[in-house]
Amino acid sequence: MSDHHSAARGFWSTRLAFIFAATGSAVGLGNIWKFPYITGEYGGGAFVLAYLVCIAVVGLPLLVAEIAIGRRGGSSPAASIEALAVAEGYSRQWRWVGSLGNIAAFLILTFYSVIGGWSMAYLWYALSGRLSGRDAEPLLAMFPDLLASPGLLVFWHTLFMLLVVVVVSRGIGRGIERTVSVLMPAMLLLLLALVVYAFTTPAMGDSLAFMFRPDFSLLDTTGLLTALGHAFFTLSLGMSVMLAYGSHLHQRFSIVRSSLLIAALDTVIALLAGVAIFAIVFSNGLDPDAGPGLIFKTIPLALGDLALGYPLAVVFFFLLLFAAWSSAISLLEPTVEALETRWQWPRGRGSWLAGGLAWGIGVLCALSFNVLAHVQPLAGLTLFNLLDALTARILLPLTGLGIALFAGWVLSRRLMDDELGPGDQAWVGPWRFLIRYVTPLLVLAVFLFNLR
Ligand code: PHE
Repeated sequence: MSDHHSAARGFWSTRLAFIFAATGSAVGLGNIWKFPYITGEYGGGAFVLAYLVCIAVVGLPLLVAEIAIGRRGGSSPAASIEALAVAEGYSRQWRWVGSLGNIAAFLILTFYSVIGGWSMAYLWYALSGRLSGRDAEPLLAMFPDLLASPGLLVFWHTLFMLLVVVVVSRGIGRGIERTVSVLMPAMLLLLLALVVYAFTTPAMGDSLAFMFRPDFSLLDTTGLLTALGHAFFTLSLGMSVMLAYGSHLHQRFSIVRSSLLIAALDTVIALLAGVAIFAIVFSNGLDPDAGPGLIFKTIPLALGDLALGYPLAVVFFFLLLFAAWSSAISLLEPTVEALETRWQWPRGRGSWLAGGLAWGIGVLCALSFNVLAHVQPLAGLTLFNLLDALTARILLPLTGLGIALFAGWVLSRRLMDDELGPGDQAWVGPWRFLIRYVTPLLVLAVFLFNLR
């Protein structure tokens, strides 16, 4: 362990706490909102299969790399990388890989919070009974109505960001660990309830066939590269998040086993959410490729006039909110750690200032759905879409590539042997092969593809 490590930064108190925090970060809108709709777009089974392969050969090796670098460096993302680069005799400029990831996390937080606000708004609609027993038309109108209202969007975005800042400002143990230890089990229960209900719907068989019977004629290069990009996003890679979370993992816990568990949980949750959502969608004769509005439109529509519609809608939007919340927390954490390390800012001040700034940019993103819709700084994209494209298409793969090269070519085998520990020696060889050759090439492919 390097001398950068000070116990004052705090450790996750148990391995389970770390698993909850990391899985809480990984399981987010990507699993419940995006995975189902891109699976729908790219034809189901074959896409799911491609996605599983990407998780194994790109996602897992990078996850191990990020957690290991974070723990070994024992500091904020950029400082951890810098310390290791210097220790291995390389340039300290490698720190930029950490900074870039950190910037990506901060920028994503700005608009992620706006979407988190949508899930809060819908939870409120569900709780207040506005989603039950109504015709299709007013239900479908709710989503565009929400987007058209600056006041509502900013209100819910503000509330969501407050939830995030309050947790992060309380620190690793009393804030993040405590919150995720409630949110994660609750999410699993909510999801289970949804899946149990899905089994009672007439279209469960269709949903399973759609998700798991591959038709390779439906999968093209775009689908493949989308699967790869999503494997990245869903495991929260390339954003310094796992670096930051790993830096609080105690030496006695296995990184390899933790990573396997996190990736497995994230994948199972995405698959379960997909199966449940498509069962509901198909049972109501709705379309699986409705795009980004999929859950906000189809779920209320599908549940609208069911006897169990009220509790199911409440369950679903609680699930969505918890997923978004635990992910947003992890998006703020790297910035707060950077401010702590670089300027010795206390956590409280860092959280409120960084959160406040992200909130401000988020307000502009929210307004880009209505009053600022005409402001299109680049390529005809609104601010919301621009930030989304910039982060997901450029910053994430770039940082991921940097992490893979750093872990595979800068860090010595000896260091990784030591960091992964005697119990996991058998993994070091295969891991190094993947992270040196396979991961960088595939990530580069996604990056170049995105630039088209
Ligand atoms: N992994 C999250 C999801 O699937 C998204 C996310 C990205 C969360 C980056 C944190 C950091 O929705």
